[in-house]
Amino acid sequence: MLAFAVLLPLLLCATGEAAFAFTDGLLPNGNFEYGPKPSQMKGTVVIGRYSVPKWEISGFVEYIESGHKQGDMLLVVPEGAFAVRLGNEASIKQRVNVVKGMYYSLTFSAARTCAQEEKLNVSVAPDSGVLPMQTLYSSNGWDSYAWAFQADYPVVEVVIHNPGVEEDPACGPLIDSIALKALYPPRPTNKNLLKNGDFEEGPYLFPNTSWGVLIPPNIEDDHSPLPGWMVESLKAVKYIDSDHFAVPGGKRAVELVAGKESAIAQVARTIPGKVYTLTFAVGDASNSCKGSMVVEAFAGRDTVKVPYESKGTGGFKRAILRFTAVTTRTRVMFLSTFYTMRSDDFSSLCGPVIDDIKLLSVRRP
Ligand SMILES: *[C@@H]1O[C@H](CO)[C@@H](O)[C@H](O)[C@H]1NC(C)=O
Ligand SMILES: *[C@@H]1O[C@H](CO)[C@@H](O)[C@H](O)[C@H]1NC(C)=O
Repeated sequence: MLAFAVLLPLLLCATGEAAFAFTDGLLPNGNFEYGPKPSQMKGTVVIGRYSVPKWEISGFVEYIESGHKQGDMLLVVPEGAFAVRLGNEASIKQRVNVVKGMYYSLTFSAARTCAQEEKLNVSVAPDSGVLPMQTLYSSNGWDSYAWAFQADYPVVEVVIHNPGVEEDPACGPLIDSIALKALYPPRPTNKNLLKNGDFEEGPYLFPNTSWGVLIPPNIEDDHSPLPGWMVESLKAVKYIDSDHFAVPGGKRAVELVAGKESAIAQVARTIPGKVYTLTFAVGDASNSCKGSMVVEAFAGRDTVKVPYESKGTGGFKRAILRFTAVTTRTRVMFLSTFYTMRSDDFSSLCGPVIDDIKLLSVRRP
């Protein structure tokens, strides 16, 4: 962290990019509040590659105003009054000035419309990732997703593409609020053998949305939007902040929203035969997620189940797993035993919150 702080200004001066490199937040017209002129639209369909200010579009792209009706479906927009919809094989892209070599995380909001099996291919060459949208986590239909990349060039092109082939091209997903944030990958220290155990480093969270950001399952990707952590299995975990949720420590934490189908993990260096403690906080996000919850923590072959009774109003307890390392690399993993739904809408997935994860060796076991 210190090395970065010293190095970065030098790097910036040397390349002369400092004045132009992107600062954390929405991309220019990232919430699509500036739209095409009436002459650049046919109904809701945008005509012309450069008709949405700051963006280049390709394929069947619609410009949708909040409250637009499609059949018996009313489309709402999370930020401002407008969003875009990507039909089959449609894409939007924008060039962004970044700092070469730096890691960035992209956050955007998306909603399925009529099609069920949606996916989005997010790319910043040469990286790309296909984010599944089959599971709806929020009851209002909108979820925010995070994805990360390392900038190989000082100018990158952010592309969101719908690879879908639905019968009705107007059934593609709505996209809104596209933001970027520089990531500073943390290192393990003598106070914690895990990186980013407090989850303070992570993707951009929209100040005006109250549903957190999904960290999608990310098996092959070594560039995690939640630095240090991998999301294993099939489903996402949710990244939440203290502005909108209760978190056990600091400003950010992780909500395990998909039961045993999602787990977050990290591999730590350990010395075989040595005794370690894995300590962590288990709580609830104060989001009407009520009931008996259990967080399962694993460290190599050892495991502990931590029950937590949630009233859905916030709170947490601390837990510990003491183990003897058997290998030089120990996988630490967390998952929620049960599925839980919010008691205020009975349709949003929710779950226990974990935070403040520390791995330390025990001097005198
Ligand atoms: C996603 O898009 C990138 C960039 O266009 C492409 O290279 C990659 O093959 C695409 N992935 C899939 C699964 O379509
Ligand atoms: C959040 O909402 C406030 C009040 O509606 C608005 O002034 C502000 O611009 C919004 N922020 C973003 C990032 O959209």
